[in-house]
Amino acid sequence: MNKLYKYIQSKIDKLCEYAPTQDTEPYLQKIFSEGMIKDDNGKEYDITISVTVEQGEYIYSLIKKYRPKVSLEIGLAYGISSLYICRGLKEVNGEKHIVIDPYQKEQFHDIGLINLIRTGYINIVDFYPYPSDQILPRLVFGGTKIDYAFIDGWHTFDYVLVDFYYIDKMLNEKGIVIFHDSELPSIRKVINFVLTHRDYVIIPWKRYWRQKVNQFEVDLVHITKLLLTFKNPYRHRIPVNRLIALQKLSNYQPNWDYFRTF
Ligand SMILES: C[S@@+](CC[C@H](N)C(=O)[O-])C[C@H]1O[C@@H](n2cnc3c(N)ncnc32)[C@H](O)[C@@H]1O
Repeated sequence: MNKLYKYIQSKIDKLCEYAPTQDTEPYLQKIFSEGMIKDDNGKEYDITISVTVEQGEYIYSLIKKYRPKVSLEIGLAYGISSLYICRGLKEVNGEKHIVIDPYQKEQFHDIGLINLIRTGYINIVDFYPYPSDQILPRLVFGGTKIDYAFIDGWHTFDYVLVDFYYIDKMLNEKGIVIFHDSELPSIRKVINFVLTHRDYVIIPWKRYWRQKVNQFEVDLVHITKLLLTFKNPYRHRIPVNRLIALQKLSNYQPNWDYFRTF
Protein backbone atom coordinates (compact mmCIF):
# COMPACT_ATOMS: atom_id res chain seq x y z
CA MET A 1 0.00 0.00 0.00
CA ASN A 2 2.86 2.33 0.88
CA LYS A 3 4.35 1.85 -2.58
CA LEU A 4 1.10 2.76 -4.32
CA TYR A 5 0.65 5.78 -2.05
CA LYS A 6 4.17 7.00 -2.83
CA TYR A 7 3.58 6.45 -6.53
CA ILE A 8 0.40 8.56 -6.45
CA GLN A 9 2.14 11.31 -4.46
CA SER A 10 5.03 11.37 -6.97
CA LYS A 11 2.54 11.67 -9.86
CA ILE A 12 0.81 14.54 -8.05
CA ASP A 13 4.16 16.27 -7.41
CA LYS A 14 4.98 15.97 -11.10
CA LEU A 15 1.63 17.45 -12.17
CA CYS A 16 2.06 20.34 -9.70
CA GLU A 17 5.21 21.45 -11.46
CA TYR A 18 3.19 22.34 -14.55
CA ALA A 19 -0.09 23.48 -13.02
CA PRO A 20 -0.81 27.21 -13.09
CA THR A 21 -2.35 28.20 -9.77
CA GLN A 22 -5.86 29.65 -9.88
CA ASP A 23 -7.56 31.81 -7.24
CA THR A 24 -10.03 29.70 -5.30
CA GLU A 25 -12.96 32.09 -5.04
CA PRO A 26 -13.46 32.82 -8.76
CA TYR A 27 -12.64 29.19 -9.50
CA LEU A 28 -15.40 27.99 -7.15
CA GLN A 29 -17.83 30.59 -8.51
CA LYS A 30 -17.17 29.32 -12.04
CA ILE A 31 -17.74 25.70 -10.99
CA PHE A 32 -21.03 26.53 -9.28
CA SER A 33 -22.31 28.74 -12.09
CA GLU A 34 -21.43 26.24 -14.83
CA GLY A 35 -22.32 23.13 -12.81
CA MET A 36 -19.47 21.23 -14.44
CA ILE A 37 -15.69 20.94 -14.54
CA LYS A 38 -13.40 20.29 -17.50
CA ASP A 39 -10.42 18.02 -17.11
CA ASP A 40 -7.07 18.89 -18.66
CA ASN A 41 -8.17 17.36 -21.99
CA GLY A 42 -11.29 19.55 -22.11
CA LYS A 43 -13.67 16.70 -21.23
CA GLU A 44 -16.66 17.96 -19.23
CA TYR A 45 -17.96 16.42 -16.01
CA ASP A 46 -21.21 17.47 -14.35
CA ILE A 47 -20.90 18.20 -10.65
CA THR A 48 -23.53 15.87 -9.32
CA ILE A 49 -22.58 15.78 -5.64
CA SER A 50 -20.93 18.37 -3.44
CA VAL A 51 -21.53 20.75 -0.59
CA THR A 52 -23.65 23.77 -1.52
CA VAL A 53 -22.17 27.28 -1.61
CA GLU A 54 -23.86 27.98 1.73
CA GLN A 55 -22.39 24.85 3.33
CA GLY A 56 -18.98 25.49 1.79
CA GLU A 57 -18.92 29.00 3.19
CA TYR A 58 -19.88 27.62 6.59
CA ILE A 59 -17.12 24.98 6.74
CA TYR A 60 -14.69 27.69 5.57
CA SER A 61 -15.92 30.12 8.25
CA LEU A 62 -15.37 27.48 10.95
CA ILE A 63 -11.76 27.11 9.83
CA LYS A 64 -11.29 30.87 9.99
CA LYS A 65 -12.79 30.91 13.48
CA TYR A 66 -11.08 27.87 15.06
CA ARG A 67 -7.79 28.08 13.13
CA PRO A 68 -6.87 24.37 12.83
CA LYS A 69 -3.34 23.31 11.94
CA VAL A 70 -4.24 19.89 10.57
CA SER A 71 -7.59 18.91 9.03
CA LEU A 72 -8.98 15.65 7.72
CA GLU A 73 -11.75 14.94 5.25
CA ILE A 74 -13.52 11.72 4.31
CA GLY A 75 -15.01 11.84 0.79
CA LEU A 76 -13.22 13.95 -1.83
CA ALA A 77 -15.54 13.44 -4.85
CA TYR A 78 -15.09 16.54 -7.09
CA GLY A 79 -13.11 18.26 -4.37
CA ILE A 80 -15.53 21.12 -3.70
CA SER A 81 -15.53 20.84 0.10
CA SER A 82 -11.75 20.30 -0.04
CA LEU A 83 -11.36 23.61 -1.87
CA TYR A 84 -13.27 25.44 0.86
CA ILE A 85 -11.28 23.68 3.60
CA CYS A 86 -7.88 24.23 1.97
CA ARG A 87 -8.70 27.85 1.23
CA GLY A 88 -9.41 28.42 4.94
CA LEU A 89 -6.44 26.35 6.03
CA LYS A 90 -4.02 28.38 3.91
CA GLU A 91 -5.42 31.64 5.27
CA VAL A 92 -4.88 30.58 8.89
CA ASN A 93 -1.42 29.13 8.19
CA GLY A 94 -2.61 25.54 8.51
CA GLU A 95 -0.12 22.80 7.72
CA LYS A 96 -1.90 19.81 6.29
CA HIS A 97 -5.18 18.53 4.90
CA ILE A 98 -5.57 14.73 4.96
CA VAL A 99 -8.11 13.41 2.43
CA ILE A 100 -9.45 9.87 2.12
CA ASP A 101 -11.49 8.52 -0.81
CA PRO A 102 -11.25 5.10 -2.50
CA TYR A 103 -13.27 6.02 -5.58
CA GLN A 104 -11.53 9.22 -6.72
CA LYS A 105 -10.25 7.73 -9.97
CA GLU A 106 -12.94 5.20 -10.73
CA GLN A 107 -16.03 7.36 -10.06
CA PHE A 108 -14.78 10.95 -10.10
CA HIS A 109 -12.10 10.75 -12.85
CA ASP A 110 -9.55 12.42 -10.53
CA ILE A 111 -11.45 15.71 -10.80
CA GLY A 112 -11.09 16.34 -7.05
CA LEU A 113 -7.32 16.02 -7.31
CA ILE A 114 -7.25 18.10 -10.49
CA ASN A 115 -9.08 20.90 -8.66
CA LEU A 116 -6.60 20.75 -5.80
CA ILE A 117 -3.74 20.88 -8.27
CA ARG A 118 -5.21 23.80 -10.23
CA THR A 119 -5.65 25.85 -7.07
CA GLY A 120 -2.20 24.91 -5.77
CA TYR A 121 -3.53 23.34 -2.56
CA ILE A 122 -2.22 19.91 -3.42
CA ASN A 123 1.06 20.86 -1.74
CA ILE A 124 -0.63 20.70 1.67
CA VAL A 125 -2.76 17.63 0.87
CA ASP A 126 -2.06 14.04 1.90
CA PHE A 127 -4.37 11.91 -0.21
CA TYR A 128 -5.24 8.27 0.53
CA PRO A 129 -7.16 6.43 -2.24
CA TYR A 130 -8.53 3.76 0.13
CA PRO A 131 -11.66 3.26 2.28
CA SER A 132 -11.68 5.29 5.48
CA ASP A 133 -12.10 2.23 7.72
CA GLN A 134 -8.71 1.01 6.48
CA ILE A 135 -6.83 4.31 6.64
CA LEU A 136 -8.11 5.85 9.88
CA PRO A 137 -6.81 3.13 12.23
CA ARG A 138 -3.41 3.39 10.52
CA LEU A 139 -3.35 7.15 11.08
CA VAL A 140 -4.22 6.62 14.75
CA PHE A 141 -1.48 4.00 15.04
CA GLY A 142 0.98 6.44 13.45
CA GLY A 143 0.18 9.05 16.11
CA THR A 144 -1.57 11.54 13.79
CA LYS A 145 -3.32 14.43 15.55
CA ILE A 146 -5.92 16.67 13.92
CA ASP A 147 -7.89 19.81 14.81
CA TYR A 148 -10.72 19.66 12.29
CA ALA A 149 -12.58 16.89 10.48
CA PHE A 150 -15.26 16.76 7.81
CA ILE A 151 -17.12 13.44 7.52
CA ASP A 152 -18.75 12.98 4.11
CA GLY A 153 -17.93 9.44 2.96
CA TRP A 154 -20.14 6.33 3.06
CA HIS A 155 -23.27 7.43 4.93
CA THR A 156 -24.57 4.27 6.64
CA PHE A 157 -24.63 4.24 10.45
CA ASP A 158 -21.80 1.70 10.81
CA TYR A 159 -19.37 3.52 8.50
CA VAL A 160 -20.06 6.96 9.95
CA LEU A 161 -19.70 5.64 13.49
CA VAL A 162 -16.37 4.00 12.61
CA ASP A 163 -15.24 7.25 10.94
CA PHE A 164 -16.14 9.23 14.03
CA TYR A 165 -14.64 6.63 16.42
CA TYR A 166 -11.17 7.00 14.92
CA ILE A 167 -11.44 10.72 14.28
CA ASP A 168 -12.26 11.21 17.96
CA LYS A 169 -9.02 9.44 18.86
CA MET A 170 -7.02 11.89 16.73
CA LEU A 171 -8.98 15.07 17.39
CA ASN A 172 -7.36 17.50 19.82
CA GLU A 173 -9.42 19.09 22.57
CA LYS A 174 -11.43 22.09 21.26
CA GLY A 175 -11.22 20.48 17.81
CA ILE A 176 -14.16 20.48 15.39
CA VAL A 177 -15.90 17.58 13.67
CA ILE A 178 -18.52 18.23 10.99
CA PHE A 179 -21.08 15.73 9.74
CA HIS A 180 -22.52 16.25 6.28
CA ASP A 181 -26.05 15.09 5.38
CA SER A 182 -26.95 15.15 9.04
CA GLU A 183 -30.65 15.05 8.20
CA LEU A 184 -30.24 11.32 7.44
CA PRO A 185 -31.41 9.02 10.27
CA SER A 186 -28.09 7.11 10.15
CA ILE A 187 -26.07 10.25 10.74
CA ARG A 188 -28.42 11.68 13.36
CA LYS A 189 -28.03 8.39 15.22
CA VAL A 190 -24.25 8.74 15.21
CA ILE A 191 -24.52 12.34 16.44
CA ASN A 192 -26.75 11.10 19.25
CA PHE A 193 -24.07 8.56 20.13
CA VAL A 194 -21.44 11.32 20.21
CA LEU A 195 -23.56 13.53 22.45
CA THR A 196 -24.36 10.73 24.89
CA HIS A 197 -20.98 8.94 25.00
CA ARG A 198 -18.37 11.68 24.46
CA ASP A 199 -17.85 15.27 25.59
CA TYR A 200 -18.96 17.28 22.53
CA VAL A 201 -21.36 20.18 21.98
CA ILE A 202 -23.21 21.26 18.86
CA ILE A 203 -22.01 24.54 17.36
CA PRO A 204 -25.20 26.42 16.44
CA TRP A 205 -25.35 27.49 12.81
CA LYS A 206 -27.28 30.68 13.45
CA ARG A 207 -26.83 32.26 10.05
CA TYR A 208 -28.35 29.21 8.34
CA TRP A 209 -31.66 29.69 10.13
CA ARG A 210 -31.60 33.47 9.81
CA GLN A 211 -31.07 33.09 6.04
CA LYS A 212 -33.80 30.47 5.72
CA VAL A 213 -36.31 32.65 7.55
CA ASN A 214 -35.29 35.71 5.50
CA GLN A 215 -35.71 33.76 2.27
CA PHE A 216 -39.09 32.33 3.49
CA GLU A 217 -37.59 28.88 3.04
CA VAL A 218 -38.77 27.63 6.40
CA ASP A 219 -41.74 25.77 5.02
CA LEU A 220 -44.12 23.19 6.43
CA VAL A 221 -41.54 20.39 6.07
CA HIS A 222 -38.99 22.30 8.10
CA ILE A 223 -41.51 23.20 10.78
CA THR A 224 -42.79 19.61 11.04
CA LYS A 225 -39.23 18.28 11.29
CA LEU A 226 -38.48 20.83 13.97
CA LEU A 227 -41.57 19.85 15.97
CA LEU A 228 -40.66 16.17 15.65
CA THR A 229 -37.18 16.99 16.90
CA PHE A 230 -38.67 18.55 20.00
CA LYS A 231 -40.89 15.52 20.55
CA ASN A 232 -38.27 12.88 19.98
CA PRO A 233 -37.15 10.68 22.84
CA TYR A 234 -33.50 11.57 22.45
CA ARG A 235 -31.94 13.63 25.17
CA HIS A 236 -30.25 15.91 22.69
CA ARG A 237 -32.05 18.07 20.20
CA ILE A 238 -30.22 17.94 16.93
CA PRO A 239 -31.00 20.71 14.46
CA VAL A 240 -32.50 19.60 11.15
CA ASN A 241 -30.02 21.34 8.84
CA ARG A 242 -27.95 19.26 6.45
CA LEU A 243 -24.64 19.94 8.13
CA ILE A 244 -23.83 19.78 11.82
CA ALA A 245 -20.61 20.86 13.49
CA LEU A 246 -19.59 19.67 16.94
CA GLN A 247 -16.79 20.87 19.17
CA LYS A 248 -14.85 18.45 21.35
CA LEU A 249 -14.69 19.80 24.88
CA SER A 250 -12.45 17.17 26.45
CA ASN A 251 -10.93 13.73 25.92
CA TYR A 252 -13.54 12.16 28.21
CA GLN A 253 -14.38 8.52 27.50
CA PRO A 254 -17.01 6.69 29.54
CA ASN A 255 -16.19 3.82 31.89
CA TRP A 256 -15.92 0.28 30.45
CA ASP A 257 -19.53 -0.70 31.23
CA TYR A 258 -21.25 2.60 30.45
CA PHE A 259 -24.19 2.67 28.09
CA ARG A 260 -26.92 5.22 27.37
CA THR A 261 -29.71 4.75 24.90
CA PHE A 262 -29.12 7.02 21.94
C1 LIG B 1 -20.96 13.03 -1.00
S1 LIG B 1 -19.46 12.62 -1.72
C2 LIG B 1 -18.34 13.78 -1.04
C3 LIG B 1 -18.57 15.17 -1.53
C4 LIG B 1 -17.48 16.14 -1.14
N1 LIG B 1 -17.23 16.11 0.28
C5 LIG B 1 -17.88 17.55 -1.53
O1 LIG B 1 -18.72 18.13 -0.83
O2 LIG B 1 -17.35 18.05 -2.51
C6 LIG B 1 -19.06 11.14 -0.89
C7 LIG B 1 -17.68 10.64 -1.19
O3 LIG B 1 -17.38 9.59 -0.29
C8 LIG B 1 -16.55 8.66 -0.94
N2 LIG B 1 -16.61 7.38 -0.21
C9 LIG B 1 -17.50 6.38 -0.35
N3 LIG B 1 -17.17 5.36 0.47
C10 LIG B 1 -16.07 5.74 1.15
C11 LIG B 1 -15.25 5.11 2.12
N4 LIG B 1 -15.52 3.88 2.57
N5 LIG B 1 -14.19 5.80 2.60
C12 LIG B 1 -13.92 7.06 2.17
N6 LIG B 1 -14.66 7.70 1.24
C13 LIG B 1 -15.72 7.04 0.73
C14 LIG B 1 -17.12 8.61 -2.35
O4 LIG B 1 -16.16 8.12 -3.26
C15 LIG B 1 -17.48 10.06 -2.57
O5 LIG B 1 -16.43 10.73 -3.19
